[in-house]
Order: sequence, then structure tokens, then C-alpha cells
Amino acid sequence: MLTDAHHRIIDYVRLSVTDRCNLRCTYCMPEHMRFVKSSALLTDAEIVTLLETLASAGISKVRITGGEPFLRPGLIPLLASIKAIAGIQQIAITTNGVLTHRYIPDLKALGITHVNLSLDTLQPQRFHQITRRDRFAAVMQTLDSLLAHQLQVKINVVVMDQVNTDELVPFAALTRELPVSVRFIEEMPFNGQGHAFSGINWNYETILDTLRERYTLHKLPDAPHSTALNYSIPGHAGNIGVIPAYSRTFCGTCNRLRISATGSVKTCLYGPDALNARDLMRSGEALLPAIQQALHHRAANGFAAERLHAGTPESMSVIGG
Ligand code: 5AD
Ligand code: SF4
Repeated sequence: MLTDAHHRIIDYVRLSVTDRCNLRCTYCMPEHMRFVKSSALLTDAEIVTLLETLASAGISKVRITGGEPFLRPGLIPLLASIKAIAGIQQIAITTNGVLTHRYIPDLKALGITHVNLSLDTLQPQRFHQITRRDRFAAVMQTLDSLLAHQLQVKINVVVMDQVNTDELVPFAALTRELPVSVRFIEEMPFNGQGHAFSGINWNYETILDTLRERYTLHKLPDAPHSTALNYSIPGHAGNIGVIPAYSRTFCGTCNRLRISATGSVKTCLYGPDALNARDLMRSGEALLPAIQQALHHRAANGFAAERLHAGTPESMSVIGG
């Protein structure tokens, strides 16, 4: 088992398979983003070796992130290889939904049951403003198809002051008919300086208060390492949640490691890179002792991690979310 300095068991890895994206969400990246060379990315074989190593040390859940994961050539065969690793019990994926539609039968066939869809507005024009791309229709087609294929869908909504806070209620209303979980995420500073960030006016409590003006919310039990506080609304097929991503109330039970598309390992989203797994593998050095050592230096929470991390804000497309 991988454990950290604070006796937390680490059994979940978030792996970015590409830093590229076909959207340019303002809260995530600047308009002109520089992406890394393909040769800098972990290869499929390196990803499999890395995950086999982590699975041998107790990692049982993998979430595939990006950038946009479906921009990686050969993603479906890679997912099949990951699926075959002994010890990996659950694979989940986070996607922006632009290209996802045609791969849904493949995901279903692979036994991937959970898909998180990033969608911050239900208005086509506003979608264009937020993502700097006119792809709303493609994302909605993906949402329809995910539901038609009976996949479990979570919609991630980043709540942005003066941008989409008037859509908290419309998003919650969507859960009346649709069996989806809509999770409102506090905005975080990881925009690669796409725009200024000076703290948030909308935290999880403000979000919940606003929803309570319109709906009765009943607290649902949360999964053991959940970052979301989940609620049901009477009569609704789906449910809602809030993710205190900036308030960082959930660090005490954090069970995750993050690996970027170039192999950088973070023990906390807010912290610096602890090591590079790609470089260790390419120079033939042992991975597991290095990862265990990084975990022994892991900060207690996202505030402590942030204090260790100087420099300009990274883009979420690089970190992997
Ligand atoms: N703040 C909060 N959430 C963000 N995401 C990307 N950038 C940010 C940010 N700056 C979200 C995406 C995706 C998830 C992986 O992270 O919308 O749903
Ligand atoms: Fe792409 Fe996701 Fe970043 Fe938007 S938030 S630009 S969809 S990686």
C-alpha cells in the first residue's frame, strides 16, 4: 500500500494522457496555449508500465484526464491495455464531450461506467465565450448519447463570478428529468494566466445558499474519499453536488496522486511537481521508491502545498484536473 506522511492511503491516480485541448476555456488556459512536443509525452508502453507499478502498490482506481483525452491517438486501445492491468478495478474518464460521441460504444464495451463531462453553461453563445470555440452542439450530442447508453454521467460546472452564476438553478433543473449528477466546482487559480485570478466570490456555501432559494436540498451520504458534497432534490431523477476545490475542505481524506501527460507526479493539485516518472523510466531508475519518498514529504493539505509552490499559475490542462 502507498501511504503518505499523514497516514493517508493512496489508491487513486489521475492520469493526464495529453495536454492538448480542442477548447480554450478561459478559466483553464490562455487563448494561445503552447503544447508540448509529442516526444515529451508518456508513451502507451510507459503509461502501462507506470500503472502496473502503481497497481502493484495498491492503486485500484484510475481517472483518465487531459487536456482532452480523446485527442490522444489510440486512446481506446490504451484504455483496453489499462483495463487489463491486474489490480485496476475502476477506470473513469473526464472529457469535454466535443469528440466523445463516437467513442461511447467503445467505452461501454470496455466496461467504463463513469464519465465526467465538463460543461459550464447550457447556452450555446455563452459556451462559445467561455471555451472560445463554437462546439456546444457536439457536447450536447455526447450528453444525450451517454445517457442513451446508460453510462453514469457527472456534469462538472466551474462556477465563475459574473459569467455563469445565473445558471445554477437551470443546471439543477436539468436533474429533474435527467439521471445525472451536476457538480458545481469552485473556480481555482489554475488558468495558466488565461485571465486574472483574485480569489473567489462564489464558494460552495454561496452556491448551496443560492440553490436553496429555489430547491429543498437533502444531504446524501458521500463516498469515502469524495471531494463533492452531494444532495438530492425531491422529485428529481438526478442529484447535485458542490466541490470546494478552492476552499479545500476535503484534504484530510485525499487518496490521490496526479500524473501529467509528461510524467510529472504531483502529490497535491496545489503543490509543485514532486518527481518525473517518465524521466525515471527512461533512465532505468526504480519508480516505486521515488513515489513513496515523495509521499513521505506530502503536505498535509492544499494550503500547505500551495506555500511550497512558487511561480506562475499553471494551466489545468497541464496538471490534468
Ligand atoms: N478551476 C476549477 N475547475 C477547473 N477545471 C479546469 N480548470 C479549472 C479551474 N481553473 C475543471 C474542468 C474539468 C475538471 C477536470 O477541472 O472543467 O471538469
Ligand atoms: Fe480543455 Fe478542459 Fe481546459 Fe476547457 S477546461 S480548455 S475543456 S482542458
